[in-house]
Amino acid sequence: MMRIFLIGFMGSGKTTLGKAFARAMQLQFIDLDWYIEERFHKTVQELFAERGEEGFREIERRMLHEVGEFEDVIIAAGGGTPCFFDNIQYMNRVGKTIFLDVVPEVLFRRLKIAKSKRPLLAGKDDAELMSFILSALEKRKAFYEQADYRFDAQFLESREQIADSVAAMKNLLDKE
Ligand code: S3P
Repeated sequence: MMRIFLIGFMGSGKTTLGKAFARAMQLQFIDLDWYIEERFHKTVQELFAERGEEGFREIERRMLHEVGEFEDVIIAAGGGTPCFFDNIQYMNRVGKTIFLDVVPEVLFRRLKIAKSKRPLLAGKDDAELMSFILSALEKRKAFYEQADYRFDAQFLESREQIADSVAAMKNLLDKE
């Protein structure tokens, strides 16, 4: 039975790589944010607006425990998921965790065009976005680094790069 959690900052490629890896390995793919949105019939932005970040984190934790029971699955966590409660310990206990490591410059490039759906980034100009990435990464690194594996997810810009990354990720897991 395989249960893999992808963790890492917003824009690190958890969804992109998770989907491609699931297809290649015939696993089910679950994006925790999408799962939350379906279960609550609300977007992540709406949940943040209604319940604040604290309320969202409670929901996120509960939903993590739901998806953490699924089998033969690859789960893309939210960027903040491992950094609250005992979520990282939980994921490490019930599955394998992979930290998608990406340098701030690449995160910035990816997030600059994908800010609006992310409540923590909405409305930030370039300078504010970069300084948010740097300071949040600094705080979150200690959690991300508790993953079983670290994976370089720098190159996900083309189909070829995604296929290469899927192969590299398979390799990483095979080495066990
Ligand atoms: C968050 C990341 C988002 C989403 C929410 C909060 C974070 O997920 O859960 O906006 O705290 O980093 P993605 O990493 O999938 O964007």
